[in-house]
Amino acid sequence: METGPAWWKESIVYQIYPRSFQDSNGDGIGDLQGVISRLDYLRDLGIDVIWICPVYDSPNDDNGYDIRDYHRILDEFGTLEDMDELLGQAAARGIRIVMDLVANHTSDEHAWFVESRSSRDNPKRDWYIWKPPGADGKAPTNWESNFGGSAWEYDEATGEYYFHAFSRKQPDLNWENPEVRQAVYRMMEWWMDRGVAGFRVDAITFIKKNQRFPQLPAEEGRELASLNGGSLNQPGILDFLREMKREVLEPRNAVTVAEAPGVPLSQVPDYLDERDGVFSMLFQFDHVDLDMKPGPKAVYHPWRLTDFKRALAGWQRETEKYGWMALYLENHDHVRSVSKFGDDGEYRTESAQMLAAYYFLMRGTPFIYQGQELGMTNCPMDGIGDYDDIMSLRLYREGLESGRSEEEMLAYLAKRSRDHGRTPMQWSGGKNAGFTAGKPWLRINPNYPEINAERQEREEDSVLWFYKRLIRLRRENRALVYGDFCELYADSEQIGGYVRSLGGEKWTVLCNFTREPVPARMPENGRLALSNVKSRTHGFLAPYEASIFRETGNGDETI
Ligand code: GLC
Ligand code: CA
Repeated sequence: METGPAWWKESIVYQIYPRSFQDSNGDGIGDLQGVISRLDYLRDLGIDVIWICPVYDSPNDDNGYDIRDYHRILDEFGTLEDMDELLGQAAARGIRIVMDLVANHTSDEHAWFVESRSSRDNPKRDWYIWKPPGADGKAPTNWESNFGGSAWEYDEATGEYYFHAFSRKQPDLNWENPEVRQAVYRMMEWWMDRGVAGFRVDAITFIKKNQRFPQLPAEEGRELASLNGGSLNQPGILDFLREMKREVLEPRNAVTVAEAPGVPLSQVPDYLDERDGVFSMLFQFDHVDLDMKPGPKAVYHPWRLTDFKRALAGWQRETEKYGWMALYLENHDHVRSVSKFGDDGEYRTESAQMLAAYYFLMRGTPFIYQGQELGMTNCPMDGIGDYDDIMSLRLYREGLESGRSEEEMLAYLAKRSRDHGRTPMQWSGGKNAGFTAGKPWLRINPNYPEINAERQEREEDSVLWFYKRLIRLRRENRALVYGDFCELYADSEQIGGYVRSLGGEKWTVLCNFTREPVPARMPENGRLALSNVKSRTHGFLAPYEASIFRETGNGDETI
């Protein structure tokens, strides 16, 4: 892996969830031609890379994360020709494409699995994880799938169970089998040959299973136990990952961002060391899951600003020593950041801008999730019928089965459902927010007449314009890319801040996370480079203010 400066360190990545980005043919589902039609918007925003969520052929049990054919495009999204066109059109605008690599599991409709399940002596039997029933005739272990229920599914035809870390339509590949790994590597090369720059590596920390397949200790009163103890970041996983790096990533110079829950800070060197780690950068979960605690599921835990900041700063300090980080606040698995960490009412614009400044100028490559640049909010849902996400529906059902009320479960989903990040992109105040001429596959947030791209293009103090300014500021100042990170106000429950420094250059980012003015020390000799507040008061940060100062050292115009 490259050390020192690299194009992907200087890049801004934009994540597209194709189903919800832009529909081009009125079937209510976003598609590749829709993405192509919005490339100019993305170029004008200033991004360099698109990470596109799975577009492969899939029965869509988990919206494309259950792949039936790695070499085909989902009919609803278009064709391979459309994909090639997207690659070409993006390249013409200086934009690279990163694909989603889903290789922990396939769909149960993938040809490999169809073969594997056909008989116990099929040559592909060992491509997946099959086990005879446990002694009592039940599942082989008490591991619980990430989406709820047993992680084992009984298959009548051959009288064995297969393992699935996610839904039962997502059987896990058996990475112990070298043929499986080689098949995955060849598939990666096939995509790289088509021109993709690299991969966002889905659920990669689940690929290694504890080969003893032990029973795991369950919480009181429960039989099932989170599969993490047997299938998350298990010893031996690095052998697989190093092989992948050696065989594909390194020779092809692929950029990678690993979805890596379960990796502790102490393992940053294993994963990210630029000399002998495995990935370019990774997504950690500490700051987005700070409302989750061990114990009963679907319970929302309150959190404090210091928890949020500590999560981010910890990764800053650790990655700074070895490599690089992926910076993000939102994606298709999480709620809208302005609703969670900011104020999606009165201070929506200011708080969305403040959050942007806070994470964007840390040390790492910033990822923007579609609609985040508009300050899109969580969506009010009228009942369970408005939800689509497999995980939300399962949690809801389990909650009711265990005696919890409908109201309580809906209140939880209002704060955590993945659907909040998946409602269609709000392009305009016109019909269906400009997303589709037909009936959208998922409810469109009713606030689209107010919150939409067309309007924000016109209004220079919009969230969208603030993102454009941030992108430009980062692009023009190397210290904001490569500079050291030093946290300020670590113990404050109101202010978040840090300094980035490189050579003699020093930048200070100060953010107010509250709706009250808060006294704050401004940097001496600091010159205001960007702020989301028009008239600043000396010695105070206004509600949800974000101000970025550059220390010039020559004392011209102090704040
Ligand atoms: C990742 C994806 C998520 C998916 C899961 C299973 O977490 O981001 O959307 O459900 O993997 O593939
Ligand atoms: Ca469509």
